[in-house]
Amino acid sequence: GSEDAEGGVAVPHWSSRFAFIMAAVGSAVGLGNIWKFPYMTGTGGGAAFVLFYLGCVLMVGVPVLVAELMLGRRAQRGPIGALVALGRRYGGTPAWGLVAGMGVVAAFLILSFYSVIAGWALAYIPKLAVGAFAGATAQATGAIFDGLLADPLAMAGWHTLFMALTVVIVAQGVTGGIERAVTLLTPALFVMLVILAIYASVTGDFARGMAFLFTPDFSKLTTEVAISAAGQAFFSLSIGLGTMLAYGAYVGDNVSLPKMTLTIAAADTTCALVAGVAIFPIVFASGLDPAGGPGLVFVTLPVAFGAMPFGSLFGAVFFVLLAVAALTSSVSLLEPIVASLQERVRLPRIVLALGVAFLSWVLGFLTIFSFNRWSDIHPLGGGRTFFDLIDYATTNIMLPLGGVLLAVFAGWVLTREARVEEFGMGEGVVYRVWLFLVRFLAPAAIVIVALDALF
Ligand code: PFF
Repeated sequence: GSEDAEGGVAVPHWSSRFAFIMAAVGSAVGLGNIWKFPYMTGTGGGAAFVLFYLGCVLMVGVPVLVAELMLGRRAQRGPIGALVALGRRYGGTPAWGLVAGMGVVAAFLILSFYSVIAGWALAYIPKLAVGAFAGATAQATGAIFDGLLADPLAMAGWHTLFMALTVVIVAQGVTGGIERAVTLLTPALFVMLVILAIYASVTGDFARGMAFLFTPDFSKLTTEVAISAAGQAFFSLSIGLGTMLAYGAYVGDNVSLPKMTLTIAAADTTCALVAGVAIFPIVFASGLDPAGGPGLVFVTLPVAFGAMPFGSLFGAVFFVLLAVAALTSSVSLLEPIVASLQERVRLPRIVLALGVAFLSWVLGFLTIFSFNRWSDIHPLGGGRTFFDLIDYATTNIMLPLGGVLLAVFAGWVLTREARVEEFGMGEGVVYRVWLFLVRFLAPAAIVIVALDALF
Protein backbone atom coordinates (compact mmCIF):
# COMPACT_ATOMS: atom_id res chain seq x y z
CA GLY A 1 0.00 0.00 0.00
CA SER A 2 0.80 3.64 -0.27
CA GLU A 3 2.88 4.95 2.50
CA ASP A 4 1.92 7.96 4.48
CA ALA A 5 5.27 7.75 6.19
CA GLU A 6 6.82 9.03 2.97
CA GLY A 7 4.97 12.26 3.62
CA GLY A 8 3.85 12.33 0.01
CA VAL A 9 1.29 14.84 -1.11
CA ALA A 10 -2.12 13.39 -1.76
CA VAL A 11 -2.41 12.57 -5.44
CA PRO A 12 -5.70 12.05 -7.21
CA HIS A 13 -6.55 8.39 -7.68
CA TRP A 14 -8.07 6.73 -10.69
CA SER A 15 -11.79 6.52 -10.33
CA SER A 16 -11.68 2.76 -10.71
CA ARG A 17 -9.39 -0.12 -11.37
CA PHE A 18 -10.74 -0.24 -14.91
CA ALA A 19 -9.93 3.41 -15.44
CA PHE A 20 -6.35 2.80 -14.41
CA ILE A 21 -5.92 -0.12 -16.78
CA MET A 22 -7.36 1.95 -19.56
CA ALA A 23 -5.05 4.87 -18.88
CA ALA A 24 -2.00 2.61 -18.74
CA VAL A 25 -3.09 0.80 -21.88
CA GLY A 26 -3.66 4.20 -23.45
CA SER A 27 -0.10 5.15 -22.66
CA ALA A 28 1.31 1.90 -24.00
CA VAL A 29 -0.77 1.66 -27.16
CA GLY A 30 0.11 4.38 -29.60
CA LEU A 31 2.37 5.17 -32.51
CA GLY A 32 4.83 2.67 -31.08
CA ASN A 33 2.52 -0.18 -32.01
CA ILE A 34 1.11 0.95 -35.31
CA TRP A 35 3.83 3.16 -36.75
CA LYS A 36 7.08 2.08 -35.12
CA PHE A 37 6.73 -1.65 -34.55
CA PRO A 38 5.95 -2.46 -38.21
CA TYR A 39 8.69 -0.27 -39.62
CA MET A 40 11.29 -1.50 -37.12
CA THR A 41 10.26 -5.06 -37.91
CA GLY A 42 10.74 -4.22 -41.56
CA THR A 43 14.16 -2.67 -41.18
CA GLY A 44 15.11 -5.34 -38.62
CA GLY A 45 14.52 -8.08 -41.17
CA GLY A 46 11.26 -9.59 -39.87
CA ALA A 47 10.58 -12.57 -37.66
CA ALA A 48 13.89 -12.70 -35.80
CA PHE A 49 13.24 -9.13 -34.67
CA VAL A 50 9.66 -10.02 -33.75
CA LEU A 51 10.64 -13.04 -31.67
CA PHE A 52 13.41 -11.24 -29.87
CA TYR A 53 11.00 -8.38 -29.23
CA LEU A 54 8.42 -10.75 -27.72
CA GLY A 55 11.12 -12.31 -25.55
CA CYS A 56 12.17 -8.87 -24.30
CA VAL A 57 8.58 -7.90 -23.50
CA LEU A 58 8.05 -11.04 -21.45
CA MET A 59 11.41 -11.43 -19.72
CA VAL A 60 12.40 -7.80 -19.18
CA GLY A 61 9.48 -5.51 -20.04
CA VAL A 62 6.87 -7.14 -17.83
CA PRO A 63 9.09 -7.35 -14.72
CA VAL A 64 10.28 -3.76 -15.18
CA LEU A 65 6.71 -2.57 -15.58
CA VAL A 66 5.77 -4.21 -12.27
CA ALA A 67 8.78 -2.55 -10.65
CA GLU A 68 7.87 0.87 -11.99
CA LEU A 69 4.25 0.72 -10.88
CA MET A 70 5.40 -0.56 -7.51
CA LEU A 71 7.75 2.36 -6.92
CA GLY A 72 5.11 4.86 -7.97
CA ARG A 73 2.45 3.48 -5.68
CA ARG A 74 4.91 3.21 -2.83
CA ALA A 75 6.04 6.80 -3.10
CA GLN A 76 2.76 8.52 -4.00
CA ARG A 77 4.59 11.26 -5.89
CA GLY A 78 5.78 12.30 -9.31
CA PRO A 79 8.81 10.38 -10.62
CA ILE A 80 11.63 12.65 -9.42
CA GLY A 81 10.12 13.23 -5.99
CA ALA A 82 9.38 9.53 -5.78
CA LEU A 83 12.94 8.39 -6.38
CA VAL A 84 14.44 11.10 -4.19
CA ALA A 85 12.16 10.06 -1.32
CA LEU A 86 12.46 6.31 -1.84
CA GLY A 87 16.20 6.62 -2.46
CA ARG A 88 16.68 8.52 0.75
CA ARG A 89 14.57 6.12 2.74
CA TYR A 90 15.63 2.74 1.39
CA GLY A 91 18.89 3.42 -0.40
CA GLY A 92 20.41 6.01 1.88
CA THR A 93 20.83 8.56 -0.90
CA PRO A 94 18.58 10.94 -2.81
CA ALA A 95 20.88 10.42 -5.83
CA TRP A 96 18.38 7.88 -7.14
CA GLY A 97 16.44 10.93 -8.20
CA LEU A 98 18.91 11.18 -11.08
CA VAL A 99 17.39 8.07 -12.65
CA ALA A 100 14.04 9.81 -12.75
CA GLY A 101 15.79 12.97 -13.95
CA MET A 102 17.10 11.05 -16.94
CA GLY A 103 13.59 9.72 -17.51
CA VAL A 104 12.14 13.20 -17.53
CA VAL A 105 14.72 14.26 -20.12
CA ALA A 106 13.91 11.17 -22.20
CA ALA A 107 10.18 11.91 -22.02
CA PHE A 108 10.83 15.46 -23.18
CA LEU A 109 12.96 14.27 -26.11
CA ILE A 110 10.49 11.56 -27.15
CA LEU A 111 7.58 13.98 -27.00
CA SER A 112 9.37 16.22 -29.51
CA PHE A 113 9.37 13.63 -32.29
CA TYR A 114 6.23 11.81 -31.17
CA SER A 115 4.21 14.93 -31.77
CA VAL A 116 5.64 15.34 -35.28
CA ILE A 117 4.76 11.77 -36.28
CA ALA A 118 1.32 12.06 -34.69
CA GLY A 119 1.00 15.16 -36.84
CA TRP A 120 1.35 12.90 -39.89
CA ALA A 121 -1.66 10.92 -38.65
CA LEU A 122 -3.61 14.16 -38.26
CA ALA A 123 -2.59 15.25 -41.76
CA TYR A 124 -3.96 12.01 -43.16
CA ILE A 125 -7.47 12.55 -41.75
CA PRO A 126 -8.52 15.23 -44.27
CA LYS A 127 -6.57 13.52 -47.05
CA LEU A 128 -8.60 10.37 -46.59
CA ALA A 129 -11.85 12.18 -46.02
CA VAL A 130 -11.63 13.88 -49.41
CA GLY A 131 -10.78 10.61 -51.10
CA ALA A 132 -7.17 11.45 -51.98
CA PHE A 133 -6.28 7.76 -51.92
CA ALA A 134 -9.27 6.36 -53.83
CA GLY A 135 -7.94 3.67 -56.15
CA ALA A 136 -4.35 4.66 -55.37
CA THR A 137 -1.47 2.29 -56.09
CA ALA A 138 1.44 1.93 -53.72
CA GLN A 139 3.33 4.32 -55.96
CA ALA A 140 0.63 6.95 -55.62
CA THR A 141 0.36 6.59 -51.84
CA GLY A 142 4.15 6.84 -51.67
CA ALA A 143 4.07 10.06 -53.67
CA ILE A 144 1.43 11.55 -51.37
CA PHE A 145 3.49 10.67 -48.31
CA ASP A 146 6.66 12.10 -49.88
CA GLY A 147 4.67 15.23 -50.60
CA LEU A 148 3.92 15.61 -46.90
CA LEU A 149 7.57 15.07 -45.97
CA ALA A 150 8.64 17.67 -48.50
CA ASP A 151 6.39 20.26 -46.88
CA PRO A 152 7.89 21.29 -43.53
CA LEU A 153 5.32 24.01 -43.09
CA ALA A 154 2.43 21.54 -43.26
CA MET A 155 4.24 19.18 -40.91
CA ALA A 156 4.85 22.07 -38.51
CA GLY A 157 1.17 22.96 -38.56
CA TRP A 158 -0.01 19.46 -37.67
CA HIS A 159 2.76 19.15 -35.08
CA THR A 160 1.54 22.36 -33.49
CA LEU A 161 -2.05 21.16 -33.42
CA PHE A 162 -1.09 17.85 -31.85
CA MET A 163 1.10 19.45 -29.19
CA ALA A 164 -1.69 21.89 -28.37
CA LEU A 165 -4.16 19.05 -27.88
CA THR A 166 -1.69 17.32 -25.56
CA VAL A 167 -1.32 20.45 -23.43
CA VAL A 168 -5.06 20.96 -23.15
CA ILE A 169 -5.54 17.47 -21.74
CA VAL A 170 -2.58 17.56 -19.36
CA ALA A 171 -3.52 21.00 -18.12
CA GLN A 172 -6.90 19.65 -17.05
CA GLY A 173 -5.30 16.84 -15.06
CA VAL A 174 -5.03 13.30 -16.25
CA THR A 175 -7.70 11.43 -14.43
CA GLY A 176 -10.65 13.03 -16.17
CA GLY A 177 -9.84 13.42 -19.84
CA ILE A 178 -7.67 10.40 -20.48
CA GLU A 179 -10.03 7.94 -18.89
CA ARG A 180 -12.87 8.91 -21.13
CA ALA A 181 -10.83 8.98 -24.32
CA VAL A 182 -9.19 5.63 -23.77
CA THR A 183 -12.17 3.67 -22.57
CA LEU A 184 -14.07 4.09 -25.80
CA LEU A 185 -11.54 4.84 -28.45
CA THR A 186 -8.73 2.34 -27.87
CA PRO A 187 -11.08 -0.65 -28.28
CA ALA A 188 -12.49 1.02 -31.39
CA LEU A 189 -9.00 1.37 -32.84
CA PHE A 190 -8.32 -2.25 -32.06
CA VAL A 191 -11.48 -3.40 -33.83
CA MET A 192 -10.53 -1.39 -36.92
CA LEU A 193 -7.04 -2.88 -36.86
CA VAL A 194 -8.51 -6.36 -36.78
CA ILE A 195 -10.77 -5.56 -39.72
CA LEU A 196 -7.77 -4.19 -41.61
CA ALA A 197 -5.72 -7.27 -40.79
CA ILE A 198 -8.48 -9.51 -42.14
CA TYR A 199 -8.87 -7.37 -45.24
CA ALA A 200 -5.11 -7.33 -45.86
CA SER A 201 -4.88 -11.08 -45.35
CA VAL A 202 -7.60 -11.75 -47.89
CA THR A 203 -6.56 -9.23 -50.54
CA GLY A 204 -2.81 -9.02 -49.94
CA ASP A 205 0.02 -11.52 -49.94
CA PHE A 206 -0.91 -13.26 -46.71
CA ALA A 207 1.61 -16.09 -47.07
CA ARG A 208 4.63 -13.87 -47.55
CA GLY A 209 3.46 -11.43 -44.91
CA MET A 210 3.11 -14.18 -42.33
CA ALA A 211 6.39 -15.79 -43.29
CA PHE A 212 8.15 -12.45 -42.95
CA LEU A 213 6.60 -11.84 -39.52
CA PHE A 214 6.78 -15.29 -38.01
CA THR A 215 9.38 -17.49 -39.72
CA PRO A 216 12.62 -16.39 -38.14
CA ASP A 217 15.97 -16.30 -39.86
CA PHE A 218 18.29 -15.94 -36.91
CA SER A 219 21.25 -14.99 -39.03
CA LYS A 220 19.46 -11.63 -39.21
CA LEU A 221 19.59 -11.19 -35.44
CA THR A 222 22.63 -8.93 -35.22
CA THR A 223 23.47 -7.00 -32.06
CA GLU A 224 22.05 -3.92 -33.69
CA VAL A 225 18.73 -5.66 -34.36
CA ALA A 226 18.66 -7.11 -30.84
CA ILE A 227 19.25 -3.71 -29.27
CA SER A 228 16.55 -2.09 -31.35
CA ALA A 229 14.11 -4.89 -30.46
CA ALA A 230 14.87 -4.44 -26.77
CA GLY A 231 14.52 -0.67 -27.07
CA GLN A 232 11.23 -1.09 -28.90
CA ALA A 233 9.92 -3.24 -26.04
CA PHE A 234 10.64 -0.43 -23.57
CA PHE A 235 9.23 2.23 -25.88
CA SER A 236 6.07 0.31 -26.60
CA LEU A 237 5.36 -0.50 -22.95
CA SER A 238 6.10 3.12 -21.92
CA ILE A 239 8.69 1.97 -19.40
CA GLY A 240 12.10 3.18 -18.29
CA LEU A 241 11.32 6.87 -18.02
CA GLY A 242 8.89 7.19 -15.15
CA THR A 243 5.60 7.35 -17.03
CA MET A 244 4.30 4.18 -15.49
CA LEU A 245 5.81 5.24 -12.20
CA ALA A 246 3.74 8.41 -12.36
CA TYR A 247 0.64 6.38 -13.18
CA GLY A 248 1.46 3.90 -10.42
CA ALA A 249 1.17 6.75 -7.95
CA TYR A 250 -2.49 7.05 -8.87
CA VAL A 251 -3.25 3.36 -8.33
CA GLY A 252 -5.25 2.28 -5.32
CA ASP A 253 -4.06 -0.34 -2.84
CA ASN A 254 -6.67 -2.83 -3.93
CA VAL A 255 -5.15 -3.22 -7.39
CA SER A 256 -2.89 -6.18 -8.14
CA LEU A 257 0.11 -4.78 -9.97
CA PRO A 258 1.28 -8.06 -11.55
CA LYS A 259 -2.16 -8.76 -12.97
CA MET A 260 -2.52 -5.24 -14.31
CA THR A 261 0.90 -5.51 -15.88
CA LEU A 262 -0.04 -8.66 -17.76
CA THR A 263 -3.19 -6.99 -19.04
CA ILE A 264 -1.25 -3.95 -20.23
CA ALA A 265 1.49 -6.01 -21.88
CA ALA A 266 -1.00 -8.35 -23.55
CA ALA A 267 -3.06 -5.48 -24.97
CA ASP A 268 0.04 -3.65 -26.15
CA THR A 269 1.63 -6.67 -27.79
CA THR A 270 -1.58 -7.79 -29.46
CA CYS A 271 -2.04 -4.35 -31.02
CA ALA A 272 1.51 -4.38 -32.40
CA LEU A 273 1.16 -7.85 -33.87
CA VAL A 274 -2.23 -7.13 -35.42
CA ALA A 275 -0.76 -3.96 -36.95
CA GLY A 276 1.99 -6.12 -38.43
CA VAL A 277 -0.55 -8.55 -39.85
CA ALA A 278 -2.46 -5.63 -41.37
CA ILE A 279 0.61 -4.09 -42.97
CA PHE A 280 2.95 -6.79 -44.31
CA PRO A 281 0.54 -8.63 -46.65
CA ILE A 282 -0.03 -5.24 -48.34
CA VAL A 283 3.71 -4.53 -48.41
CA PHE A 284 4.40 -7.73 -50.33
CA ALA A 285 1.32 -7.62 -52.55
CA SER A 286 2.22 -4.10 -53.68
CA GLY A 287 5.91 -4.79 -54.16
CA LEU A 288 6.89 -2.30 -51.43
CA ASP A 289 10.17 -2.49 -49.55
CA PRO A 290 9.55 -3.84 -46.02
CA ALA A 291 12.64 -1.93 -44.93
CA GLY A 292 11.19 1.31 -46.28
CA GLY A 293 11.46 3.08 -42.91
CA PRO A 294 9.26 5.48 -40.95
CA GLY A 295 6.76 5.98 -43.77
CA LEU A 296 5.75 2.32 -43.94
CA VAL A 297 2.31 2.50 -42.34
CA PHE A 298 1.50 5.76 -44.12
CA VAL A 299 2.22 4.21 -47.49
CA THR A 300 0.76 0.72 -47.05
CA LEU A 301 -2.55 1.16 -45.23
CA PRO A 302 -3.80 3.84 -47.65
CA VAL A 303 -3.44 1.28 -50.45
CA ALA A 304 -6.05 -0.80 -48.60
CA PHE A 305 -8.20 2.25 -47.86
CA GLY A 306 -8.06 3.18 -51.52
CA ALA A 307 -9.32 -0.22 -52.63
CA MET A 308 -11.86 -1.26 -50.02
CA PRO A 309 -15.55 -0.28 -50.03
CA PHE A 310 -16.12 2.88 -47.96
CA GLY A 311 -12.33 3.03 -47.66
CA SER A 312 -12.13 6.82 -47.50
CA LEU A 313 -14.51 6.98 -44.56
CA PHE A 314 -12.96 3.94 -42.88
CA GLY A 315 -9.47 5.35 -43.40
CA ALA A 316 -10.38 8.79 -42.09
CA VAL A 317 -11.85 7.24 -38.94
CA PHE A 318 -8.79 5.03 -38.60
CA PHE A 319 -6.43 8.00 -38.57
CA VAL A 320 -8.68 9.84 -36.11
CA LEU A 321 -8.39 6.88 -33.78
CA LEU A 322 -4.65 6.59 -34.37
CA ALA A 323 -4.27 10.26 -33.48
CA VAL A 324 -6.32 9.70 -30.31
CA ALA A 325 -4.17 6.69 -29.41
CA ALA A 326 -1.12 8.87 -29.94
CA LEU A 327 -2.70 11.54 -27.77
CA THR A 328 -3.25 9.21 -24.82
CA SER A 329 0.45 8.34 -25.13
CA SER A 330 1.78 11.87 -25.59
CA VAL A 331 -0.22 12.93 -22.57
CA SER A 332 1.59 10.23 -20.61
CA LEU A 333 4.91 11.69 -21.77
CA LEU A 334 4.08 15.23 -20.71
CA GLU A 335 2.33 14.25 -17.47
CA PRO A 336 5.35 12.87 -15.57
CA ILE A 337 7.39 15.94 -16.48
CA VAL A 338 4.68 18.25 -15.23
CA ALA A 339 4.07 16.07 -12.16
CA SER A 340 7.77 16.21 -11.27
CA LEU A 341 8.04 19.94 -11.84
CA GLN A 342 4.89 20.65 -9.90
CA GLU A 343 6.55 19.35 -6.78
CA ARG A 344 9.43 21.79 -6.99
CA VAL A 345 8.17 24.83 -8.87
CA ARG A 346 5.29 26.85 -7.53
CA LEU A 347 3.56 27.55 -10.79
CA PRO A 348 0.08 26.58 -11.91
CA ARG A 349 -0.17 23.29 -13.73
CA ILE A 350 -1.26 24.96 -16.93
CA VAL A 351 1.82 27.19 -17.01
CA LEU A 352 4.16 24.25 -16.50
CA ALA A 353 2.39 22.15 -19.11
CA LEU A 354 2.51 25.00 -21.59
CA GLY A 355 6.15 25.80 -20.93
CA VAL A 356 7.41 22.22 -21.25
CA ALA A 357 5.29 21.55 -24.32
CA PHE A 358 6.52 24.74 -25.94
CA LEU A 359 10.16 23.73 -25.54
CA SER A 360 9.44 20.23 -26.78
CA TRP A 361 7.55 21.75 -29.72
CA VAL A 362 10.59 23.84 -30.63
CA LEU A 363 12.82 20.77 -30.44
CA GLY A 364 10.34 19.02 -32.74
CA PHE A 365 11.67 21.10 -35.62
CA LEU A 366 14.83 19.01 -35.59
CA THR A 367 12.64 16.04 -36.47
CA ILE A 368 10.60 17.97 -39.03
CA PHE A 369 13.73 19.08 -40.87
CA SER A 370 15.26 15.62 -40.61
CA PHE A 371 12.79 14.55 -43.28
CA ASN A 372 13.48 17.36 -45.73
CA ARG A 373 15.89 20.30 -45.44
CA TRP A 374 18.33 18.56 -43.14
CA SER A 375 17.89 15.00 -44.35
CA ASP A 376 21.54 14.98 -45.38
CA ILE A 377 22.83 16.31 -42.09
CA HIS A 378 24.23 13.48 -39.98
CA PRO A 379 25.61 15.20 -36.86
CA LEU A 380 27.39 12.15 -35.46
CA GLY A 381 27.97 10.40 -38.77
CA GLY A 382 26.67 6.89 -39.33
CA GLY A 383 23.92 8.13 -41.62
CA ARG A 384 21.72 9.20 -38.70
CA THR A 385 19.63 12.34 -38.97
CA PHE A 386 18.67 14.42 -35.93
CA PHE A 387 15.46 12.40 -35.69
CA ASP A 388 17.36 9.10 -35.85
CA LEU A 389 19.73 10.30 -33.13
CA ILE A 390 17.01 11.48 -30.75
CA ASP A 391 15.10 8.27 -31.34
CA TYR A 392 18.20 6.12 -30.87
CA ALA A 393 19.42 7.90 -27.74
CA THR A 394 16.03 7.67 -26.05
CA THR A 395 14.67 4.32 -27.21
CA ASN A 396 17.84 2.28 -27.32
CA ILE A 397 19.87 3.82 -24.52
CA MET A 398 17.95 5.95 -22.02
CA LEU A 399 14.83 3.81 -21.66
CA PRO A 400 16.61 0.46 -21.20
CA LEU A 401 19.13 2.01 -18.82
CA GLY A 402 16.43 3.79 -16.82
CA GLY A 403 14.23 0.72 -16.75
CA VAL A 404 16.96 -1.54 -15.49
CA LEU A 405 17.97 0.93 -12.79
CA LEU A 406 14.35 1.07 -11.63
CA ALA A 407 14.26 -2.73 -11.63
CA VAL A 408 17.47 -2.82 -9.60
CA PHE A 409 15.98 -0.37 -7.13
CA ALA A 410 12.85 -2.45 -6.72
CA GLY A 411 14.75 -5.72 -6.63
CA TRP A 412 17.74 -4.85 -4.47
CA VAL A 413 17.19 -1.57 -2.65
CA LEU A 414 13.57 -1.69 -1.54
CA THR A 415 13.05 -3.71 1.61
CA ARG A 416 11.61 -7.16 1.30
CA GLU A 417 8.49 -6.15 3.25
CA ALA A 418 7.79 -3.21 0.96
CA ARG A 419 8.37 -5.32 -2.13
CA VAL A 420 6.16 -8.17 -1.03
CA GLU A 421 3.43 -5.86 0.10
CA GLU A 422 3.33 -3.99 -3.20
CA PHE A 423 3.59 -7.16 -5.24
CA GLY A 424 0.50 -8.36 -3.46
CA MET A 425 0.72 -12.07 -4.23
CA GLY A 426 2.68 -13.35 -1.28
CA GLU A 427 6.09 -14.87 -1.82
CA GLY A 428 5.05 -17.69 -4.09
CA VAL A 429 6.61 -18.72 -7.32
CA VAL A 430 5.29 -15.77 -9.30
CA TYR A 431 6.99 -13.42 -6.90
CA ARG A 432 10.20 -15.39 -6.96
CA VAL A 433 10.34 -15.50 -10.74
CA TRP A 434 9.73 -11.76 -10.87
CA LEU A 435 12.41 -11.11 -8.27
CA PHE A 436 14.92 -13.20 -10.21
CA LEU A 437 14.16 -11.32 -13.41
CA VAL A 438 14.49 -7.83 -11.91
CA ARG A 439 17.52 -8.77 -9.82
CA PHE A 440 19.55 -10.71 -12.33
CA LEU A 441 18.20 -10.95 -15.85
CA ALA A 442 17.40 -7.28 -16.46
CA PRO A 443 20.79 -6.01 -15.22
CA ALA A 444 22.66 -8.81 -16.99
CA ALA A 445 20.91 -8.00 -20.26
CA ILE A 446 21.91 -4.38 -20.08
CA VAL A 447 25.52 -5.17 -19.19
CA ILE A 448 25.81 -7.55 -22.12
CA VAL A 449 24.31 -5.01 -24.47
CA ALA A 450 26.55 -2.22 -23.18
CA LEU A 451 29.69 -4.33 -23.44
CA ASP A 452 28.73 -5.42 -26.90
CA ALA A 453 28.13 -1.86 -27.98
CA LEU A 454 31.50 -0.77 -26.60
CA PHE A 455 33.67 -3.53 -27.99
N1 PFF B 1 4.25 3.56 -25.58
C1 PFF B 1 3.96 4.62 -26.50
C2 PFF B 1 3.74 4.02 -27.87
O1 PFF B 1 3.99 2.83 -28.06
O2 PFF B 1 3.35 4.75 -28.78
C3 PFF B 1 5.05 5.66 -26.53
C4 PFF B 1 5.46 6.09 -25.18
C5 PFF B 1 4.56 6.72 -24.33
C6 PFF B 1 6.73 5.82 -24.74
C7 PFF B 1 4.93 7.07 -23.06
C8 PFF B 1 7.13 6.19 -23.49
C9 PFF B 1 6.21 6.80 -22.65
F1 PFF B 1 6.59 7.13 -21.47
